[in-house]
Amino acid sequence: MEIRKTTLAMVSAAALMLATSTASAAGKVEVIHWWTSGGEAAALNVLKKNLEKQGIGWMDGAVAGGGGDQARTVVKARVAAGNPPTTMQQLGFAILDFADGGFLANLNDLAAKEGWDKVVPNALKRFMKPDGVWVAAPVNVHTTNWVWANKAIFDKLGIAVPTNWNEFVAAADKIKAAGITPIAWGGQAWQEATVVDALVNSTGGTDFYKKAFVEMDQDALKSKTMVEVFQRLRKLKGYVDPNYPNRDWNLATAMVINGEAAMQMMGDWAKGEFIAAKKVPNKDFLCFRFPGTAGSVTFNSDAFAMFKVGDDAKANQAALASAIMEPGFQAAFNIVKGSAPARMDVSGKDFDACGQKAIKQLAEAAKADKMMGSMAHGHAVPEAVKGAIYDVVTNYFSSDMSAEEAVKKLAEGVALAQ
Ligand code: BGC
Repeated sequence: MEIRKTTLAMVSAAALMLATSTASAAGKVEVIHWWTSGGEAAALNVLKKNLEKQGIGWMDGAVAGGGGDQARTVVKARVAAGNPPTTMQQLGFAILDFADGGFLANLNDLAAKEGWDKVVPNALKRFMKPDGVWVAAPVNVHTTNWVWANKAIFDKLGIAVPTNWNEFVAAADKIKAAGITPIAWGGQAWQEATVVDALVNSTGGTDFYKKAFVEMDQDALKSKTMVEVFQRLRKLKGYVDPNYPNRDWNLATAMVINGEAAMQMMGDWAKGEFIAAKKVPNKDFLCFRFPGTAGSVTFNSDAFAMFKVGDDAKANQAALASAIMEPGFQAAFNIVKGSAPARMDVSGKDFDACGQKAIKQLAEAAKADKMMGSMAHGHAVPEAVKGAIYDVVTNYFSSDMSAEEAVKKLAEGVALAQ
């Protein structure tokens, strides 16, 4: 288990932090998260204010780094050192790892009192309630197979929303010929993996995605379709600017907002950045599904996994969990964050056009069995397998490795990590 493999360096970093953060004493909750961009911070503020109103102090544990790899490293070290925070923003399989290790609190009494079972969809419950015990409170559902586009650029060049790969390539070629960067790319493993999720779904369809990225089927991983996925990924590299390596996702979104690039392929946390910049859907920017993935979604849910804390901190922890699950909060938070509510009983009426689209498409995809966990965001495969896929994707993108070689490495990496 990954948590138990924590390195000595991480443990000593945790010991250092211990000195400054013997936190979750009475009156406060210590919340570790990676929501540091403008849109993310604005959304988190909704939660902070909610708790402050109840007289509960907020000890902020922001660990920058999109996708949360850095934050997870910090918390693993804290847990290994016996000093967990009150809670941490968590994704899918990472929650299961902490639950497996026996580090998470049992929220069943609160969940029963508030009827969580009836309002949280099964796709989420699988991660929030392992072995019948509620260990986390889900705050949202993000979908990740989106393209965010600068509308003025599309209008100026007379580009219609592309619905398949060929149309997408034609649009990108036209944008490039006009001297504009077609794709705002963030060269970090998790961002590249987010695009690969969409490419696997688009190139092979939902059954192929499930075979390759949920069942980890060797034939699918080694298939010609997967070779085509990597060839398409290489094609995308022709549409990015030279400064892409290590660019943060929100800086890539800013390029689309400012008209320096035409499109970004990213989860709907990107919408939070457009909204924070006072941009309006269908007027300033467009949101559409990655070409070839209409009717399906890849998703991830941010949840606050609650750690085992002392008796003095339990009441505040429960108040935090309750505040997260409150329907009014779920609407207010997700309008700002760009995601859909985690509760199925929250109305979408106050959401903007992209938000309403997300909520509707999520429901339709769930009904058609086309709602699939995002590999890139920890909802399709265990953490070690995700890491192996990240490595292949990012090494491929930054080198001239052939697609055939990448696929061979992918199948081997996944087999080894299982
Ligand atoms: C999280 C989002 C977050 C994004 C970028 C995703 O894994 O689910 O809440 O905004 O990473 O940091």
